[in-house]
Amino acid sequence: MSHANLVKHFQVRPAEPRDCPDILRLIKELAAYEEMPDAVKITETDLLRDGFGSRPCFHCLLAEVKSQDERPLAAADIVGFAMYYFTYDTWIGKILYLEDFYVTEEFRGWGIGTKLLKRLSQIAIETNCSCMHFLVVVWNKPSMEYYMRRGASDLSTEEGWHLLRFDKENLTRMASEE
Ligand code: ACO
Repeated sequence: MSHANLVKHFQVRPAEPRDCPDILRLIKELAAYEEMPDAVKITETDLLRDGFGSRPCFHCLLAEVKSQDERPLAAADIVGFAMYYFTYDTWIGKILYLEDFYVTEEFRGWGIGTKLLKRLSQIAIETNCSCMHFLVVVWNKPSMEYYMRRGASDLSTEEGWHLLRFDKENLTRMASEE
């Protein structure tokens, strides 16, 4: 489907509980793009509990496309998302951590990503964050370039940080050590 002649109309809004099925769909699309489609274990129930309870673990911005003449533009109106939460750094304080950032292929180049980043930047500044952190898989060159064009720095090459993980097995072992 081509939308070349359509007015590129979309809005960015915070996600609501009813959006969990769309959030999960987009999480799976991004995982497939990152060639890890089977890595998504999370369910709609998890998202609802973890994002929309009394102490949410994450926040989410959604991009929704609107047709000018009420006909649906796409199979789903929600075509992009940014999931984020706040972390804390003992050197610089609050950080906005961008967990997932994704726009469905058909709607890329509309400025949706730019609008999501603008809103995230506003949120970061309003909440006194010093910076925004995020991970990019090494081969995702288009995305790396997208962030670099907007001034991002690569902490792996510039500062030498490694991202490490203790998996559940390790946690269980350490938790039960005498
Ligand atoms: N497809 C892609 N890019 C296009 C297209 C097109 N058809 N047409 C033009 N572009 C150019 C634009 O000119 C623009 O260039 P600029 O960087 O010089 O401004 C850029 O590509 C797209 O800008 P936007 O429209 O603002 O961004 P978009 O809505 O396309 O979203 C995003 C950007 C989210 C990176 C999107 O490309 C995407 O989902 N990529 C695949 C998934 C991905 O890599 N996500 C990031 C993973 S890292 C993380 O999640 C923390």
